[in-house]
Amino acid sequence: MNDIYEKVMEVAKRRGFVWPSSEIYGSVAGFIDYGPLGAMTKRNVENVWRSFYIIQEGYYEIECPTVGTEDIYVASGHVKEFADKMCQCPHCREYLRADHIVEEHGVEGAGALSAEVLKAKIYELPCPSCGEVMGETDVFNFNLMFETTIGPGSQRTGYLRPETAQGIFTDFARLLRFYRDKLPFGAVQIGKSYRNEISPRQGMIRLREFSQAEAEIFVHPDEKQHPSFHRYAEYEVPLLTYGLQETGQPPVRKTMRNAVDEGVVANEYVAYYIALTHELLVTIGVDPEKLRFRQHMPDERAHYAMDCWDAEVFSGRFGWVEIVGIADRTDYDLRAHSTTSGSSFTVFVPFEEARRALVKRIVPDMGVLGPKYRGKAKAIADAMAEATPGPEGVTVTVEGEEIFVPADLYQIREEETEVRGEEIMPHVIEPSYGIDRMMYVVLEHAYAEEEVEDELRRVLRLPPAVAPVKVAVFPLMNRDGLDVIARKITDTLGQRGIVAQYDDSGAIGRRYRRQDEIGTPFAITVDYDTREDDTVTIRDRDSMDQVRIPLGQVPEVVCSLVAG
Ligand code: GAP
Repeated sequence: MNDIYEKVMEVAKRRGFVWPSSEIYGSVAGFIDYGPLGAMTKRNVENVWRSFYIIQEGYYEIECPTVGTEDIYVASGHVKEFADKMCQCPHCREYLRADHIVEEHGVEGAGALSAEVLKAKIYELPCPSCGEVMGETDVFNFNLMFETTIGPGSQRTGYLRPETAQGIFTDFARLLRFYRDKLPFGAVQIGKSYRNEISPRQGMIRLREFSQAEAEIFVHPDEKQHPSFHRYAEYEVPLLTYGLQETGQPPVRKTMRNAVDEGVVANEYVAYYIALTHELLVTIGVDPEKLRFRQHMPDERAHYAMDCWDAEVFSGRFGWVEIVGIADRTDYDLRAHSTTSGSSFTVFVPFEEARRALVKRIVPDMGVLGPKYRGKAKAIADAMAEATPGPEGVTVTVEGEEIFVPADLYQIREEETEVRGEEIMPHVIEPSYGIDRMMYVVLEHAYAEEEVEDELRRVLRLPPAVAPVKVAVFPLMNRDGLDVIARKITDTLGQRGIVAQYDDSGAIGRRYRRQDEIGTPFAITVDYDTREDDTVTIRDRDSMDQVRIPLGQVPEVVCSLVAG
């Protein structure tokens, strides 16, 4: 077993981190279960994420349903655009992603190629499933959303959300009020998303049900400066621009200030979240030497994005894997939902000083408008005063009805008026994290094997913040009162909110190995000296060094070690 993925997954399965889902029925690709230690580790990763976005950034978390109505996903563009190019192997009948077949043969960015070009390219390539040359086969779009119906007998179509973001967009007007009508503000969501991936063969990397942690940050469209940019201005990150990709060059390390000043990154907001993401990923245990930020090629971007940078992490099995996408979504989503739903998603931004300005007002000829528009003339006139006329006339909505008033029924007058501010449609900066991919790469980068006393030691070097169990407590022997002291230590640590695991079974060396394998950073051993001098040993997982500390200091020492 030489492959790092096989080794990591062997430990992950055996020790209760990750299991195939519904294994007793044969499992379906693209679904996994997190076992007891995996679920705890995932919660810890999510909580580190929260410590950045909720505590540091001050954004609030919301929780929306995973099932959404058709309107949402028609407006967002997912019904039309959220598709991959699929083909079926004429020999083994397996459904495959046409762009992946091409990419496996050294062509990068095949996702952007048309169905016709892909069809021509796969003609001579072998099927990744059965190995036969593909030959003549059609390439067509396959929408990745899971479709359902809402309610019994109802023909109301629903979709399982393909990203958590849309819930935040549809709640925009309420969020704006919550944040007292001021930009910038952000809202975040952690939860399940669903994509009916065509052939998910990459374990935890490509799932059909997965967890995302997304932040949607609403900013003034002209605002390029992040209010806290100074926090990350000198932070250095390896950046792979699309220019560098085109010429086959490696990433360059740049401070965020230089990246913005040189125009490498579009604005301070995008740069800020690139640096924050780098810090966050390193905090959860991603090896900084295997982390880079790659800019999307123009033809690679999602249908809603103007600029996008992926945090990519190197995996011994999968190569460079996208873990996080940081996109400038412009006003694409808010404009789409506002137009489709008829809700106002603009924000009134006051000027520092009121300005005098000439405004065009539509003044209807009430005499003509009156009888013709039966009883609604006043409401129509008021709506017209706010509307923008076209060459033929103006369309206004009154009591839900769209009314067209031709240009010969009104005049346009210019009036000087005081303007206190403007209505703008905010732009959205979106850092979007895949929790399961983060989990996998953290396990892979934490995994190490070493020879210790002629034995193989497998160890997960997880940071204490992420490790499921923070400290193990062992009585050297399960008798003579050592067990009583060890249980008391475990209880005391539990009362301090520290996950401590008591273990008295087997030789002490084996107990250390068991904890090493699940990444427990510290182990306390109660031995016969403890009874004499009230001290215990505390062992560091990585160095395996042991020191004696007074029994009474255990909670303080462990708390400070675990807090890092
Ligand atoms: N709201 C933006 C969005 O969803 P994305 O790049 O499609 O952007 C964001 O997804 C992140 O979600 C990815 O960087 C990845 O980590 C994770 N992700 C996407 N599809 C996934 C899948 N099939 N399985 C596991 N994680 C996935």
